[in-house]
Amino acid sequence: MNIKQIENQYFIHTYKRNNLVIKKAKNQFIWDDKGKKYLDFFSGISVCNVGHCNDFVVKAIKSQADLYMHTSNLYYAPSQIKLGQALAKRTFVGAKIFLSNSGAEANECAIKLARKWGFLNPSKDGSRYEIICFDNSFHGRTMATIAATGQKKFHEYLKPLQEKFVFARFNDIGSVKKLINNKTVAVIVEPIQGEGGIFSADKKFLKDLRILCDKSNILLIFDEIQCGVGRTGRFYAFENYNVKPDIVTIAKSLANGLPLGATIASKKCAGAFVYGDHGSTFGGNPISCAAASSVLKIMTSTFLNNSLKISKYLFSKLETLKIKHSMIKEIRGMGLIIGVDLTVNGKDVVSYCLSKGLIINCTHDTVLRLLPALIITKRDVDTAIEIIDEALTKQA
Ligand SMILES: Cc1ncc(COP(=O)(O)O)c(C=O)c1O
Repeated sequence: MNIKQIENQYFIHTYKRNNLVIKKAKNQFIWDDKGKKYLDFFSGISVCNVGHCNDFVVKAIKSQADLYMHTSNLYYAPSQIKLGQALAKRTFVGAKIFLSNSGAEANECAIKLARKWGFLNPSKDGSRYEIICFDNSFHGRTMATIAATGQKKFHEYLKPLQEKFVFARFNDIGSVKKLINNKTVAVIVEPIQGEGGIFSADKKFLKDLRILCDKSNILLIFDEIQCGVGRTGRFYAFENYNVKPDIVTIAKSLANGLPLGATIASKKCAGAFVYGDHGSTFGGNPISCAAASSVLKIMTSTFLNNSLKISKYLFSKLETLKIKHSMIKEIRGMGLIIGVDLTVNGKDVVSYCLSKGLIINCTHDTVLRLLPALIITKRDVDTAIEIIDEALTKQA
């Protein structure tokens, strides 16, 4: 049996895999089992932001693997503690960290922390627990994060869902105001909706949300699992908005390919958790943390500004494609998280690109999603644009 047949026989079929057997990957490139080279404009769903097997990250992983891989969170692992310090300093003054393994877990932690904070504030009677979420959002695949996700297709067959997640309209502050009552404890929002089709929050909307949360004494949680860690040209997407959350969650690209999630909370609510309130066997794994520390070191402002220059170039090339192809409805996004919304289903475009050596993705049926590593060059952009142009011409 070949690899595809083995997968077909032994795996539960939750992933519709593309026709690509990967042999190795380096920087912005992937090679298949036959030696064909691909330009990767997807980065493992916004994970390998500093490039596949980045030399600096690999070195950090190897050094930590030579020391130890796991000892549990009952002892001090310096690589984890150092990452926590660097991440807290990079986030906001007074920030405190909880480390987990994934985005869904980082959000679960944020939800639990918000509920516990709500239990304690103001009355210690548990009367506040409602969380306001948004239509079209995505927060993960655990039961609580599915309940917080604003897309019906993720709720199918899983009812009854966990209570009490209520849904407002993205970029509509009035719809949030209407949902606030004396049971509301938090609002959770992606500054840029990723799985939902790359929709950015308006600047005024996030500012108004901050003001509303302060006025109502409720927490503002930013889910930056897909749009954080440099994707928008700033370490956090919220830095583009000049609005600070009470809790921010990151994962995916934090350790550039190793599992790691972080829930970073402000002074206001971090103290709600006390010993025993939350935990994880693998969370904050020493090797993942060593990798993440090196990601943080790489992501200087010079590095991020370079990614912004390339982003401008890529957006300008896409706008040229839009003039040529009426099939392109809209180009959305920020930095290197980009959605190209088509008038048709994008799956054939994705398959054509793959056959020509370009890896992109399609979300929400019609949105081509581009999430290249932040290290791509103008030449890579030219190559990608040429292939996408061809793919769209074939579709017309
Ligand atoms: C915004 C957002 N939140 C949460 C998640 C869940 O992350 P994970 O798959 O690591 O659990 C994702 C994953 O795509 C995401 O995009």
